Amino acid sequence: MGKTNVLFVCLGNICRSPLAEGLLLDKIRKHGLTELIDVDSAGTSNYHIGERPDHRMLRTARAHNIDLPSRARQFLPEDFQKFDVIVAMDSQNLADILSQAPLSHGAELIKMGHFIDPGSEPDIPDPWFGGDQGFNDVFEMLDTATGILLQHLLHNYVQK
Ligand code: 4NP
Repeated sequence: MGKTNVLFVCLGNICRSPLAEGLLLDKIRKHGLTELIDVDSAGTSNYHIGERPDHRMLRTARAHNIDLPSRARQFLPEDFQKFDVIVAMDSQNLADILSQAPLSHGAELIKMGHFIDPGSEPDIPDPWFGGDQGFNDVFEMLDTATGILLQHLLHNYVQK
């Protein structure tokens, strides 16, 4: 069996999905799973292609010793073939990804909020226009969600 491939998607790929990527990578490292799971992130928009994460997101992550290696790229329909699990940060991201889905693909497409509350599946709110508290709130939500997502990956995908 090959590696399990996970893709996080938001709008700009400079705030939410890079943090989700950094948090899951950190948990993967701490669990000794780096040979088994690969992580990437992308944005549905072309607004910030090639950019490093927003400095406020970098600062919030650094305060928790989380490294954000991402450089922004746009989501591509081909991603449906490359990734086992595609995780959307909010309902708009989910709709934008679904509108690009090929007729047949093997990817699991799911909202990040599912791993916080599978009943209500809350959006991860876009912190871009808000203040520091928004970035801290997103950190707490994504820290929780990536922990539960990792259990989902271990139960359903990773062959050990
Ligand atoms: P993200 O946040 O989707 O979490 O990366 C945003 C960043 C930039 C913009 C929107 C959302 N923007 O409109 O430029």
